[in-house]
Amino acid sequence: MNRFPSSGTRSLFPENSAGTSATHADHFRSRRFLLKLLGGSLVSGLSASATASAAGLPLSSNKGKTMKIVVLTGSPHRRGTSALLADEFMAGASARGHAIVRFDAAFEKVGPCLACYYCSEHAGECVQRDAMQKILPEILSADMIVLVTPLYFFSMTAQLKAVIDRMMPQRDALRQHPMKSAMLVTCGSDTSWNMDAIMAQYKALLRYLPWEDQGVVLAKHVFARKDIEGTEYPAAARALGMSL
Ligand SMILES: Cc1cc2nc3c(=O)[nH]c(=O)nc-3n(C[C@H](O)[C@H](O)[C@H](O)COP(=O)(O)O)c2cc1C
Repeated sequence: MNRFPSSGTRSLFPENSAGTSATHADHFRSRRFLLKLLGGSLVSGLSASATASAAGLPLSSNKGKTMKIVVLTGSPHRRGTSALLADEFMAGASARGHAIVRFDAAFEKVGPCLACYYCSEHAGECVQRDAMQKILPEILSADMIVLVTPLYFFSMTAQLKAVIDRMMPQRDALRQHPMKSAMLVTCGSDTSWNMDAIMAQYKALLRYLPWEDQGVVLAKHVFARKDIEGTEYPAAARALGMSL
C-alpha cells in the first residue's frame, strides 16, 4: 500500500486541508514557485547561489583544493529516491576530485545514544562498540559532511538521527573543527511547509557545530524512485557536487 501517494489518492501528508494529495498540475505549479524562490535553481537554500551562508556571510571559496567529504545517508531503501540524490551528488563531487566516504546508516549497526554520559567520564570514548567507531573518526577528519535522508514525519530518519546523536562523545572536538555541509532530502508530499522542520534542524546544526552550508536539495512529491527519475532533482544534486 502506498501510504504517501505521489498523486491521485489520499495521503497522510496531504497538500491541502481537505486531505487530498496534490495533483501533478499542483506539483508543477509548486515546483515553479520553488524555482522562483530559489533564484532559478533547485539547489537552494541557505547558500542559494553559493555566495551567502545562513548568516548572510560570504562563503569561503574552496580555492580548488580537494576535500574529504563524508556522505551520511539515512534511508533503508538502497535504490530509493534519496539514494539517487546521494549517487548524483557523489558523482559530481568525485568529478571535481574530492574524496568521498559514504556511510549508509540504515545498513550499519549504530545504536541510539544511551545518554549514559560514560563519554564525559572517559575522554570522549563511547560505551557502545558499533559502526560509529569507524565513521566518527572519518567525520572528525573530514572537510565536509552531507546529510541525505527521506523525510520521515517532517524530520530525518531515525537511522540518520542516531548517527548525529552518537556524535555526542566528540561534540567538543567537532565544534573545534569547522566543516562545510550540505543536505539532500526527498519526500512524498508536496505540502508547502513539509520541509520547514528539517530545515530548522539543519540550520541549528550549522549554528551549533558550526558547519558552513554549501546548499540543500529539497525534492518534494517523489514518493518512490520512478517519481524522482526524470525530474530536475538528480541533476541539482550532481550540480551541487560539481560546484564544490
Ligand atoms: C515512516 C515514514 C514517514 C514519512 N513521512 C513523510 C513526511 O513527513 N512527509 C512526506 O512528504 N513524506 C513522508 N514519507 C515518504 C518518504 O519521505 C518518501 O517516500 C521518500 O521518497 C522515501 O525516500 P527513500 O526512497 O530514499 O527511502 C514517509 C515515509 C515513511 C516510511
